[in-house]
Amino acid sequence: MLKRVASALAGLACLVAASLPAAAEYPERPITMIVPFAAGGPTDIIARIVGEHMAKTLGQAVVVENVAGAGGTTGSTRAAQAKPDGYTIMMGHMGTHGAAPALYPNLKYDPAKDFAPVGLAAGTPILIVAKKDFPAKDLKEFVAYVKANEGKVNEAHAGVGSVSFTTCTLLQSIMGTKTGRVAYRGTGPVLNDLVAGQVDFACDQIVNLVSQIQSGNIKVYAIATEQRSDTLPNVPTSKEAGLPEFQVSAWNAIFAPKGTAPEIVAKLNAALVKALDDENTRKRLLELGSVIPDTAGRSSDALHKLVESEVARWTPVLKAAGVTAN
Ligand code: MLT
Repeated sequence: MLKRVASALAGLACLVAASLPAAAEYPERPITMIVPFAAGGPTDIIARIVGEHMAKTLGQAVVVENVAGAGGTTGSTRAAQAKPDGYTIMMGHMGTHGAAPALYPNLKYDPAKDFAPVGLAAGTPILIVAKKDFPAKDLKEFVAYVKANEGKVNEAHAGVGSVSFTTCTLLQSIMGTKTGRVAYRGTGPVLNDLVAGQVDFACDQIVNLVSQIQSGNIKVYAIATEQRSDTLPNVPTSKEAGLPEFQVSAWNAIFAPKGTAPEIVAKLNAALVKALDDENTRKRLLELGSVIPDTAGRSSDALHKLVESEVARWTPVLKAAGVTAN
């Protein structure tokens, strides 16, 4: 009898071992990192900086694939439904994994259930920016002008569910305005049109904006964090500039599909943590105004808790603003 039980257990162990992806040898080929927005925007920038160092640690290329559309939910759905073998991951953020459920009643994924959280890559403060010749010299004048001309000015964003859409929805609800809102496939293209003067203003992540602000190609009115950014020390906080209610910051983080082996998630998290401790990677992220997560904020569990808290935070704000994708 015992022999039969022992051989059955041995057989089961072989079955389980054979069915699990070869976590011990992982990765044995390049890894795809889906960025759910157009190339050149903040999420793409962070993915490429962090992915470059992760590739060194993992010994395999991390290949960014831009899958844009529907405010980042197209690419996020693709990632949620990918094979959980560790070879498809994604860079999501406060929009795709925080605001989206409130904006898409028929969202095809649950940010908290359909992913294996890997880790937080970067905090990204939000700035209010405008085209260079926008007729307001400071935030107070900006608010007054938008209120007086809401039928004529256009806000640009990266689609319903994006960080830019979500944060400017909050800004507009604070200002009590409903301007024209133009959707793009990412805030990379948004920035191009801001610089070209084709659209009037946007709420965007600092990593996308630093060089254009420093070169004077766009106007900046405020940063929506408690403290000023060391990267843009002359930009006032929204509190200093007279709009204290506009306090918001975004974040970008790596996710794998639900069901990815814990050993694989752990290897990806370890590679991410190593990237965030690498001097050159840190320098590049900090120069762009990112906030590098502290040790406690880097774990997969911390990211899971962040997603749950962000969905809980943004749902009432967005429902109060009366915006949904449909
Ligand atoms: C981007 O990378 O284009 C941005 O993350 C889009 C957004 O969420 O505003």
